[in-house]
Amino acid sequence: MADQVVVVDIQGRVATVTINRPDKLNALNAQVRHDFVAALEDLARNEAVRVVIVTGSGDKAFVAGADIKEFAGRTGYDQFRVTKSFGIFEAPERCPKPVIAAVNGFALGGGCELAMACDVRIASHTAKLGQPEINLGILPGGGGTQRLPRLVGLGTAYKLLYTGELVGAEEALRIGLVDEVVPHERLMTRVQELAGQMAEKSPAALQFIKEAVRASVRMPLDEGVRLETALFGLAFSTHDKEEGVHAFLEKRKADFKGT
Ligand code: COA
Repeated sequence: MADQVVVVDIQGRVATVTINRPDKLNALNAQVRHDFVAALEDLARNEAVRVVIVTGSGDKAFVAGADIKEFAGRTGYDQFRVTKSFGIFEAPERCPKPVIAAVNGFALGGGCELAMACDVRIASHTAKLGQPEINLGILPGGGGTQRLPRLVGLGTAYKLLYTGELVGAEEALRIGLVDEVVPHERLMTRVQELAGQMAEKSPAALQFIKEAVRASVRMPLDEGVRLETALFGLAFSTHDKEEGVHAFLEKRKADFKGT
C-alpha cells in the first residue's frame, strides 16, 4: 500500500478510493491523476460496487492541490495536455454511481476541485477548503471557476477566487461548499453509513438520478424536465421498479439488483 499512490478498498458494495501521498499532503502528480482515473473507470465497470468514496490518506489533507513542483518550467501546451489527457476532474462525474468525497483535511486548489467534482461532500470539522491558485499567479484549472459558483453563488465564488482565502468546515457548510460536517474521528463512519444507505437502493435508479441532476447544471429547465421524464419512463422498464413497488405493497424490504 505504501508505494501505491491511489489505494482502492472494496468492502461489500462500497469502494473507498484513497489518494495516498500523505507526506506531500496527497498533492496530485501525474501518477495520482493516472491511477485515480483508472481506479474510477474500473469501479464504474464493477457491478458489485454500488457507491464510491473518495478520500485522502492521513489526518491532515484530502488533497492539497496539484503538485506545484510539476508546475515549475512547464509550458502552456504541456499543461493543456496534462489537463486533457487525465480528466481527473471529470472522472467522478463519468462514474455512473454515487461518489462521495470524505474531506478529511486540506482540500485546496485541485483538491477542492476534486471534492466539488464528487456528488456529495462530507467534511471533517478540521477540513479547510479553498482555491489559492491566485497566490501562484494562476487560476483554477480543474473546473474551479465553473463548479464553485454553481455551489456557492457568484459573489462568494469571486471572493474566494480573487483572494485565495481558505474557509473552515463550518463556513464551507454555511456557503454550500460541503453538505455536512462531522467530528474528525467520525468522518469515515458517517461517510460509510451514508454510502451504505445509498448502496441498498436500485443502482439503475441511482444512475438515472445522477444523469438527471448532473444535466440540471447544463440544461434549461424545460430540457432538464424533459430528460427527467424520459429517465422516469426508463426506470419503469427495470426489474428494480417492480421489486420496489411489490416490496412496498407486501410490506417488506426491497432487494434491488440493478436490472
Ligand atoms: N504540491 C506539492 N507539494 C505540496 C503541496 C502541493 N500542492 N502541498 C503541500 N506539499 C508538500 C510540501 O511541499 C511539503 O513537502 P516537503 O516536506 O518535501 O517540504 C509537504 O507537502 C508538507 O507540506 P507543508 O507545507 O510543510 O505543510 P504545512 O502544514 O506547513 O502547510 C499547506 C500546509 C496546505 C497550507 C501548505 O502545504 C500549502 O499551502 N500547500 C499548497 C496549497 C496550494 O497552493 N494548492 C493549490 C495548488 S494549485
